[in-house]
Amino acid sequence: MKFYIETWGCQMNDHDSEKLSGLLLREGFEAVSSLDDAELVLLNTCSIREKAVHKVYTELGRLRELKQQRPLIIGVTGCLAQQEKAALFKRAPQIDFVLGTMALQQLPRLVEEALAGRRRVIDTGEYPDNHLFPAEVTQRRSTAKALVTIMEGCNHACTYCVVPNTRGAERSRPMSDILAEVRLMVEQGYREIELLGQNVNSYHGGCSFAELLELVAEVKGVEWIRLTTSHPMNFTRELAQALVTNPKVAPFLHLPIQSGSNAVLRRMLREYTVEQYLERLAYLGEGRQRFALSTDFIVGFPGETDEDFEATMLVLETVQFDTSFSFLYSPRPATPALRLKDDIPATVKLERLTRLQQRQKELTQASNARLVGRELEVRIESHGPTEQGHWMARTGQWQNVHLSAGKDRQLTFGSLARTRITYAGPHFLGAELA
Ligand code: SAH
Ligand code: SF4
Ligand code: F3S
Repeated sequence: MKFYIETWGCQMNDHDSEKLSGLLLREGFEAVSSLDDAELVLLNTCSIREKAVHKVYTELGRLRELKQQRPLIIGVTGCLAQQEKAALFKRAPQIDFVLGTMALQQLPRLVEEALAGRRRVIDTGEYPDNHLFPAEVTQRRSTAKALVTIMEGCNHACTYCVVPNTRGAERSRPMSDILAEVRLMVEQGYREIELLGQNVNSYHGGCSFAELLELVAEVKGVEWIRLTTSHPMNFTRELAQALVTNPKVAPFLHLPIQSGSNAVLRRMLREYTVEQYLERLAYLGEGRQRFALSTDFIVGFPGETDEDFEATMLVLETVQFDTSFSFLYSPRPATPALRLKDDIPATVKLERLTRLQQRQKELTQASNARLVGRELEVRIESHGPTEQGHWMARTGQWQNVHLSAGKDRQLTFGSLARTRITYAGPHFLGAELA
């Protein structure tokens, strides 16, 4: 039987799709690269903002039509599945099964039941061993870095966020499992490891996150370590030290601030003030120069005044983030922020977002421009040159690089190359071999 998985959302979802894919392959299913050839389609969904959910329902509409023309088993998993549970069947009766985020390993059983003709098969239960996925089963996509889960779930309670609900409370994977997986990844040829969790800083699977970084860095063959993602309140001095002193940690830190206004942060229940956030960033010390800084902003949170927004613009100037992701606040089901009065006109919210994004673009451009003329190691992320003649690569600071290597030069996918940066735009750097 042929299957196809569609994925929305964050790296955790990307990686879950790799796990789900592995489970189906183990059962003898065959992966196909197009929906047209699929007999089973699995939607791995995200519910972080309304837009993400909208995309899923649009796709479900398309699948309903397809299912009227030919046999098709439709499964839904991911955060929307965990959030809506059986209500999904009411909204979209074409769905055959619903699989929760903490029941991934039940996939083969659910598919089997659906194939046997059972209707509305569902498992959104919380399995105590859901974070102990067998590493050798995972079917990785062919990217230059290997995603490795170290913890799942979130114990924070930001008032706008569905994640504590859709991913459950924190569970940490035992450190021996993680290290065994990292070794397996190196054996398979990976040189870059991205450690994943909703809040990696609060890892506690037998050691602290700072200690885990140390252990992963000691695995022979590991060149770069990345981490996604961190809550500022769990960003300790010890961890900051571990990041800046470990040469294998890629110099990129994503630390979401959300707003520059203490009043807004309080209503978001972020547990820090702007001053505390800045203090924590300062833990990086000298390392701050070497690290690219990234953050998330939510614009138009209920009650955000002009002054609140100016405070956000100010923090952007103060920190000079190298890059950031900014979103309009999206009201989410079963979140406490729904109770807050949200009376800012949509046009005002959009103006604010546009202004912030415009300024960020300038900052990113300036930050990239500072790299021109520098020699940098980059990882080759394409198997050959594009039609425009350059190879795709990535810096440790996570900038995209278009690398001109000369016509007949062969580069190895996933390896590091020494380059000189020759051009900087807001979206990518140009480079040549050094
Ligand atoms: N665990 C991560 C967040 C994952 S969600 C962390 O705390 O860092 C990624 C980003 O989506 C958040 O940082 C936030 O900026 C944004 N986000 C979450 N819920 C949102 C909502 N209801 N509306 C708009 N943006 C939201
Ligand atoms: Fe959501 Fe906050 Fe947890 Fe991040 S820390 S996943 S924003 S509740
Ligand atoms: Fe989306 Fe769930 Fe990730 S809501 S961002 S897929 S944790």
